[in-house]
Amino acid sequence: MYTAEQEAQLIRLTETLLKDLSDPGQASLAQQRILQLRDVIHYHDWRYYIRSEAVISDADYDRLFAALRALEERYPQFADPDSPTQRIASTLTKEFPAVTHLVPMLSLENSYNAGDLRSWDQRVRELTQTPVITYCVEPKFDGASISLLYENDRLVRGATRGDGQQGEDVTPNVRVLRSLPLRIPLSRHGIQRMEIRGEVIISKEDFRQLNEARTAHGEPPFANARNAASGGLRQQDPSLVAKRRMQAVVYQISYAADAAGNELIGTKLTSHASNVQLLHELGFKTPYNDLRCFEGIDAVIDYCQQTEGRRDEFPYEIDGLVIKVDSLVLQERCGATSHHPRWAMAFKFAARQAITTLLRVDFQVGRTGAISPVAKLEPVALSGVTISSISLFNEDFIREKDLRIGDRVVIERAGDVIPYVVQAVTSARTGKEKPIIFPEKCPSCQSRLHKEAGEAHWRCVNTQCPAQLFERIKHFASKDAMDIAGMGPATIEEFMQEGWLHRISDIYKLDYERIAQRPGWRQKSVSNLKNAIEASKQQPLYRLLYGLGIRYVGETTARKLAEQVSDLRDFFHWTPEQFQQVQDIGPKVAASLYDFFQEPKNLEELNELARLGVAIQQQPAAKTSGKLAGKTFLFTGTLSMKRKEAEELVEKHGGTVLSSVTSKLNYLVVGENPGSKLEQARKLKTVHILCEKEFLDLVGK
Ligand code: IVH
Repeated sequence: MYTAEQEAQLIRLTETLLKDLSDPGQASLAQQRILQLRDVIHYHDWRYYIRSEAVISDADYDRLFAALRALEERYPQFADPDSPTQRIASTLTKEFPAVTHLVPMLSLENSYNAGDLRSWDQRVRELTQTPVITYCVEPKFDGASISLLYENDRLVRGATRGDGQQGEDVTPNVRVLRSLPLRIPLSRHGIQRMEIRGEVIISKEDFRQLNEARTAHGEPPFANARNAASGGLRQQDPSLVAKRRMQAVVYQISYAADAAGNELIGTKLTSHASNVQLLHELGFKTPYNDLRCFEGIDAVIDYCQQTEGRRDEFPYEIDGLVIKVDSLVLQERCGATSHHPRWAMAFKFAARQAITTLLRVDFQVGRTGAISPVAKLEPVALSGVTISSISLFNEDFIREKDLRIGDRVVIERAGDVIPYVVQAVTSARTGKEKPIIFPEKCPSCQSRLHKEAGEAHWRCVNTQCPAQLFERIKHFASKDAMDIAGMGPATIEEFMQEGWLHRISDIYKLDYERIAQRPGWRQKSVSNLKNAIEASKQQPLYRLLYGLGIRYVGETTARKLAEQVSDLRDFFHWTPEQFQQVQDIGPKVAASLYDFFQEPKNLEELNELARLGVAIQQQPAAKTSGKLAGKTFLFTGTLSMKRKEAEELVEKHGGTVLSSVTSKLNYLVVGENPGSKLEQARKLKTVHILCEKEFLDLVGK
């Protein structure tokens, strides 16, 4: 926590530093500059990760960071293990030694209804001999639990829960989490040693982006944020941890002692609510803003029921609420079983899980030839939708879960994430279940399947495979690519059966008179199709590039790539190294691009597209003209149009879409159920807040 005065000072200091980040050339001045940079970076980490409202742009943050790193390299005498630059350790972790928690990490008892809570309250009142109990209620974070040890104001250890007594020492990995302060002024509070509990979580938005990036790179998406976070904590390479966008929330002080070794819980620290406040003030991310205290269980029950209806409003997944006796003295009197404390109770929300039968597995051929197993399920309702089909990703997924045809399977839907199979209910097996046999040949063209070392997918490598062609054309014509309305799966299949589509460029050679003679086609639908196909010829370059369906090239990568050339054919002269120099393109994506552009058939196809009138050269950018030139936008909440369409509208008119609320933001467009961005933008006072209608007026739509 920073006082308003400290904040103002740090913001001023940031501005001064940003004006001149060069090496002052003299050791004493460099030392001062290093200390200032560390202070401001700590501050901006806190603004960004704890307060969720950055006051500087990502680019400026990166400049501060780079300057600090450069100075520390030049003046190694001023190195400090707690400098923000040291969060990203370069050494591999190899293995995680076992550590014993100071206080065992117990689990929580679960309750599901008012009755459960009433009987628990009665027991607490008996145990404590207290007529009315003050309870605190806070979110039950659905992540991976951690225990953190601070000594002499410094973070010295981070550990997973393990078996509750002993966990794995994952200190290098937790140090990477920018939401965790590495140094805190504990001594000022008379605390020399403190062990705290918390959860490593990934916000819903970060999780969505994480999975988008994984899918774009050909990796299977994570099933839910909890798995991604818990796997993330155990990554061998701390720099990969940073990529998972994990945050640490802390909710419990399990141990605190002063310099003489006196325990402070129950003496100096007397209530749960004030402990959470202390953690909040020390600069941790905590449930402080979502913590409520109530006298007696009835108010607790009301609040639990109300909050269950609002669970989707939280920016991260919660699977319930945790109710805790506020007084630490009374907590002590309640005690604990070997499994859970008697002073706390989880109120679990209705599960977003269901059990159904796995009827069969279909094998689908993707546009790059990857074979994906898809489970066909007995239809079952799951949080408001009927599920009858679910991706099983790849063969390893099936093997790991030992899934069999006829199994009863648990399926889960976490938030707005696609549903997935959690596990088979092995206890329900009858012995009649059959193994899932992965095909050896392509289900479409019967050619032999291949699997490269290190690859998760079996693949059909026949470039003429009809299933692949179908998927490639479907992708090319899709809304996010060339956006050819009327060229949906049924039409593509029909034209393929007629022998009219053998490659993408055939779309632009269709004979509309012959289409008009086919049953079911009217003059109007033919002319609509023709217009859509003609219009697609002028789509921006990145849409064409994305539409070509090159492996690992998602929309974002295609946008970045398209900015680099004036003609798509320029890529035929590029080396893998050149591809890698483009932001966010790694060796794997670069190799895939290089292979694609080495293939003479692909050059032939692009030449053919150009001959048929498809724009494969850059259209002049509208950036500096446009109504919104130089203006920045951000969206929050649900709009009546698709978010992507709104963003494209901004870009079309020369504006830029930002990814978070920063001082650079000009307009925030607010839809229904806006998220925390609205609050952040209001606080900044410099952001214009628009409703959708005002936004459309602005672009003249
Ligand atoms: S208190 C001794 N508070 O839920 C009691 N736990 O199902 C320690 N959890 O292992 C737990 N949010 O990992 C507590 N606000 C919260 C929590 C929370 C999530 C996790 C924790 C625990 C698990 C039990």
